[in-house]
Amino acid sequence: MSFCLIRLLAALLLCAVSATANQTVDWWESATLYQIYPRSFMDSDGDGIGDLNGITSRLAFFKEIGVTATWISPIYDSPMADMGYDVSNYTKIYPVFGTMEDFDNMLAKAHELDLKLILDFVPNHSSDECEWFQKSILREDGYDDFYVWDDGKIDPETGERLPPSNWGATFGGSAWTWVEERQQYYLHQFLAKQPDLNYNNPLVRERMKEVMKFWLDRGIDGFRMDATNSLAEKRFENGTYPDEPIKAGTVDQLERIYTQDQWESTEIIYEWREFLDEYQRLNGGDTRAMIIEAYSDVDVLSGYITNGTKVGGQMPMNFNFVRLKENANAETIETQANDWMDVIWARHKMANWVANNHDNSRLPTRMGESKKDAMTMIIHALPGTSVTYYGEEIGMPDYAAACSGDPCNFRDPERTPMQWNGAKNAGFSTGNSTWLPVNPNYLFLNVQVQRGVARSSLQIFKGMTALKKTDAFKAFKEEGGFSYKALSEQVFQVIRTAVDREEIRVLANLGNQIEYFDGLTNKTMEYVLLNSYSPHRYGDKLDLSGRIYLMPYEAVVLRWTA
Ligand code: GLC
Ligand code: MG
Repeated sequence: MSFCLIRLLAALLLCAVSATANQTVDWWESATLYQIYPRSFMDSDGDGIGDLNGITSRLAFFKEIGVTATWISPIYDSPMADMGYDVSNYTKIYPVFGTMEDFDNMLAKAHELDLKLILDFVPNHSSDECEWFQKSILREDGYDDFYVWDDGKIDPETGERLPPSNWGATFGGSAWTWVEERQQYYLHQFLAKQPDLNYNNPLVRERMKEVMKFWLDRGIDGFRMDATNSLAEKRFENGTYPDEPIKAGTVDQLERIYTQDQWESTEIIYEWREFLDEYQRLNGGDTRAMIIEAYSDVDVLSGYITNGTKVGGQMPMNFNFVRLKENANAETIETQANDWMDVIWARHKMANWVANNHDNSRLPTRMGESKKDAMTMIIHALPGTSVTYYGEEIGMPDYAAACSGDPCNFRDPERTPMQWNGAKNAGFSTGNSTWLPVNPNYLFLNVQVQRGVARSSLQIFKGMTALKKTDAFKAFKEEGGFSYKALSEQVFQVIRTAVDREEIRVLANLGNQIEYFDGLTNKTMEYVLLNSYSPHRYGDKLDLSGRIYLMPYEAVVLRWTA
């Protein structure tokens, strides 16, 4: 080889290396993130309620299925009025879940396995049983303004006392509750047992940072910030709270213009980001990631990431796929994906995909059983972070009969115990009963069965997470790294590309008709992952320059390498 050619090759190589180096991908950006709902994941002590030692005993499962990071719904002490989203002590573990030692052990084992662990953080409200609230009722020193208190209004005609505004709580009723003892109303955007903390009070902000530091010092890798869009509310200079207007076309639904998405909420997030970055500067280690939970428009979500001057949460969750219902087709998926990509990707080169969580009906129930594995392919093939809710990897549906109390929690059906195997209580617990009933479908729908069945939901999931290690998947931030579109009303395509080296293509038919396409590309590709509706075999070749067919609900992954 001539000297010149070697120099040219060396220069090209350098060029390629630096092009990749420019596009650094932080751990949270391409993670396979998994939500653990601690009550329902794994019970270690037979009381029918999942716990931390249970999670620890199942950490190896995450490695098996290619999960790289987890986030855990609240594990703090709580009267469980909202299943832990009502915290009575932010630095104590709920005893039914275990002890601080169990926590440290779980975290250490997770890190040994190279798994990141993110904690749910509930900053908007505490439990009414929290010591802070009890002290606030009594106006104890330093706690007087810890929550949002107000005298309310006096009706000029009747002389009757009324709440300060017409605001409604997310779970029904007024957002204001009267406390005899203090002779004032307090604000709660959720249940009356979840009083809103007052973020206009610097002491509250400081206290919450102390709480964060407590968990960061134990070694956690980040926070999922709960109900971020509810953090701040509108309050006039004169101390009054404005009524919200009635939504057009409804009788009593409020347009939540003063209780949701206030810019002050974003400011709080910026302050926490500064705190987290400073923590990393002082203590080293990887990025402590902040995930934002806000059911808000992409423009608002973009503001949580940055306003141009200040930075906030790395990753607002993308709930667009939680909105997909039975009638959703490839075009709906494209619309929902564009909604995110046109704003968040365009501005921040960040994407993530959530299709399930503990607040929403599970995808197989919402969209249909026949589409679930195709959706797993799509969710993982789209660029960025996939977020999986426990049980999603085996295609667990809702269990309509599940009910945890009287009244039933409307979200119980999507929170039933994880289905590990065909043993008693699906291997979730050795107890005589479980906090929510196990879905009777566990006998055939469980991890163990699906390990042994080709093309099971679990195998599709594993196949997709394995693909994340390919060049084509890693190149997603590079020019031409991905594309997606609805090829027809029912067929969705995602392409991942390492230019000139590798291409991976998902073709998913979400409809019940045979579909065909001509000349999609001049490549011949190999079938590397197939759902159970596909008549093809692994390793078969497909010439995409000619006509290709997709059977009803068939979803396939094709691969080409140079
Ligand atoms: C979030 C949680 C939900 C909870 C609410 C109030 O939306 O995901 O489960 O009820 O916040 O904390
Ligand atoms: Mg237990």
